[in-house]
Amino acid sequence: MKKIKYRKVSSSDFEELNLLNKEINKSKYRQKFHMQPLTGLLNDPNGFSYYKGKWQLFYQWFPFDAIHGTKSWYHTVSDDLVHFENKGVGIYPNAYEDNHGAYSGSALQVGDDLFIYYTGNNRDEEYTRHPKQMLVKYDGEKYSEKEILIDTHPDYTEHQRDPKIVYDEKLGKYYIIIGAQTKDKIGCILVYESTSPDKDFTFKGKLKVKGFEDFGYMWECPDLISMDDKDILLFSPQGLETKGEYFNNIYQNGYIIGKIDLEKLEFIPESDFIELDRGFDFYASQTANHPFDREYLVAWMGLPDTNYPTETDKWSGSLTMVRELKLKNNKLYQYPVEAYKNLRKNEKTYEYENTRLEIYVPMEMEIKDIQDKLILTLLDDGKALMELKYENNEFIFTRKSFSSEDIDGDFEKRYIKNIDISKLNIFIDTSSIEIFINEGEYSLTSRYFKKNDSINLIVNSSNIIKVKTWDLDDCIDESFVL
Ligand code: FRU
Repeated sequence: MKKIKYRKVSSSDFEELNLLNKEINKSKYRQKFHMQPLTGLLNDPNGFSYYKGKWQLFYQWFPFDAIHGTKSWYHTVSDDLVHFENKGVGIYPNAYEDNHGAYSGSALQVGDDLFIYYTGNNRDEEYTRHPKQMLVKYDGEKYSEKEILIDTHPDYTEHQRDPKIVYDEKLGKYYIIIGAQTKDKIGCILVYESTSPDKDFTFKGKLKVKGFEDFGYMWECPDLISMDDKDILLFSPQGLETKGEYFNNIYQNGYIIGKIDLEKLEFIPESDFIELDRGFDFYASQTANHPFDREYLVAWMGLPDTNYPTETDKWSGSLTMVRELKLKNNKLYQYPVEAYKNLRKNEKTYEYENTRLEIYVPMEMEIKDIQDKLILTLLDDGKALMELKYENNEFIFTRKSFSSEDIDGDFEKRYIKNIDISKLNIFIDTSSIEIFINEGEYSLTSRYFKKNDSINLIVNSSNIIKVKTWDLDDCIDESFVL
C-alpha cells in the first residue's frame, strides 16, 4: 500500500474529508479566531495578496493526517484580514511537476489575473528532487494550466524553493527571489529577472548579503519589502546556533534592515538579523503584495520537525493573526490589524496590584502602567500553564511542556533581556497565545494546550496597573469547502 504521505488530494475526496472535518471539529484545541486546517496539517501562509477587492490568503495543506505529506494550496479570502472565507483547494499537486507537493510561494495581481508563483516539489523514480518554480494564473474563478517558469539550477543543491515575486516599477522588471542552498551547504537567496511576469526569467545570480555569507545551511521563504526608504529582507534560516537569549527555536524567522540593489545583486545590511518573534512557535512568515501604503505579515504558528498534541486529534497548525508592520527605531513593530477590535465584547476594566481572575478564551487583555515588576500566571485546574514575568528589566515567558495531560512536566522558557515594558497586549485563543510588548516592539507567539474551559489568571504587580479585558467573538469559517 502506498504511504498516506504520498496521497494527493482531489475533489473526489470531499465526503471522506468532510467526515474527518466533523470529527476534528470536536477537538478541544480547535481555535476560534486563528486560521487552522479543515483537516490534517497546515504550515506556511502562501500567496498573501490583494486581488479583485479582496485579500487572498492560501496555506500549505496536507488534508489526510497531521503529517507533512504531499502539499496543496488551500485558498481563503477576506474583506478585513480577520474574517476569512473558505474557498477550497487552489493548487492541487499533480503527477508531474509537483508530484511531491505544491510548495510555498507568493502571488501578485497582474492585469486582471492573480499570478501565483510556487515551487513544484518534483521527485523522480529514484526519489531525487528536481524543484521547479511554477506559475499559475487565477482569474477569480478558475486556475490556468501550470507552467514551469524556472527549472532546477544545477549549481545549487535540491533545496531551491519558495519564490517571492517582486515588481520594480522604476526598472519595469520582475524579480523572483528564491530560498536556496549552495553545494557547500550554506543558505542563500537566488535572484531571477524578467521584463515580463510570465516568461523569460533568467538567472541573475546569488544575492550577496554582506556579513551573512555563512548564516545557516538553508534559507526558506525569502521575502522583501520597502518601508520609509529602507529595504527589509525577511527569511527563515535553518541551522543557526543558539546565542544566549536568541535563536532558541529549532529554526528561526527574522529580517535584516538595509538597502538592496537587485541589479548589483547586493544587500547592504544596516541591522543584525532580528528575530520577528521571541516565542516558541513562529515560522515561514509572509508579507502581502497589495497596492496600499501599509505592510501586513502573517506566519505559521508552528515549526517544521516539531510534534504538537493536536496530532492525536488528527490536525496540526494554525496561522498567526495578521499583523500590520511599522518601522520604528530601526526595528519592525508588529501589531494585529485594527479590525480585530471588531471582535471585542464585554469590556471589563480593573485596577489592581494583586488579584486572581477567572478567564474564558477567546479573549484579549491590555495591561498599562507597568513599572518595575509584573508576574502573570495562567493556571489550568490549579496548575501553572504559562507564566509571563517582568522583573529587573528582563521578560521571561514560560510554557509548560507540550501536553495538557503532562501537567507536571518540564517548563520551557524564552528570555528578553534589557527591556523596558510599559504595556502588554495579549490575545489568547483555545490553544495559542500572542503577546505584544510596548505596542508591537516585541511579539511572543506560542501554542499552549489546556484541559479546562476556563483558566485562572493570577496577577502580581509591584504597583497598581490598569487592566482591560474583552471576550472575543469567533471568526472562523467552519463551512467545509474543498
Ligand atoms: C517551510 C517549508 C518551505 C516549503 C514548504 C513545504 O516551512 O519547508 O520551504 O516550501 O514548507 O510545505
